[in-house]
Amino acid sequence: MPGSPLEAVALHREQDGTLLDPHTAAVELLNIIRPTVAIAWFAVFAAHALHRQPGGLDQLRDGGPAHARAFAHEVRRFYPFVPFIGGAAAHDLSLAGHQIAGGTLLLLDVYGHHHDPELWERPYHFDAGRFLRHEPGRDALIPQGGGDARTGHRCPGEDLTLSLLAALSPALADLDFAVPRQDLSIPLSRIPTRPRSGFVIDVAGRPGSRRARRFQPPV
Ligand code: HEM
Repeated sequence: MPGSPLEAVALHREQDGTLLDPHTAAVELLNIIRPTVAIAWFAVFAAHALHRQPGGLDQLRDGGPAHARAFAHEVRRFYPFVPFIGGAAAHDLSLAGHQIAGGTLLLLDVYGHHHDPELWERPYHFDAGRFLRHEPGRDALIPQGGGDARTGHRCPGEDLTLSLLAALSPALADLDFAVPRQDLSIPLSRIPTRPRSGFVIDVAGRPGSRRARRFQPPV
């Protein structure tokens, strides 16, 4: 398709005029697909949050960009999409009183950090309002890694993720859909995780129609 990412990759020429080899072209395409799918999973969690707390729908519809951004932050804090991040210690080091040999596998407990009652008020309560009161500190909210994206282990796509999620969530709140009975439990043994059924919806109307949404009781 003209102008598509597929066309851009397929026709891309290196400085010496050669096309990309098939492996590199495939990796480039996967580099587009993988993060796009990752954001779609966050959108599923956004739908899950709205389903569990329909009271948040009006806030999201009427709260403007600040509320949408706060909601996107809270989705990324609350849900265990990336429950931990692993990495090998680059050299011998001392961390919080522990001696760690270079090469040791370290796991950053992202889910634990996001639900630590010393860091978050009522951590198991979904509350977008907590991010309306203040923007999170750099290493307080770490669903996509911590530190500085330019020098450390933070996802360089985080701003894009946040912007897309903040744009998608109000659109979702405006969509007239029903949620058929399904298994919306979220297994913590799966990484990355998502609701067992995905999130199946029955779209009944057009965006913006704002008809009363028909919810099945959560299962
Ligand atoms: C649900 C959305 C996403 C999540 C949860 C996520 C999470 C992460 C995490 C945990 C890392 C590893 C950081 C590290 O340990 O070094 C990472 C790296 C990366 N992410 Fe994301 N990401 C998401 C979306 C995106 C998007 C939308 C893009 C691009 C537009 C992107 C591009 C990258 C790249 C290029 C790296 C590698 C950075 C490097 O190694 O220097 N990510 N991401």
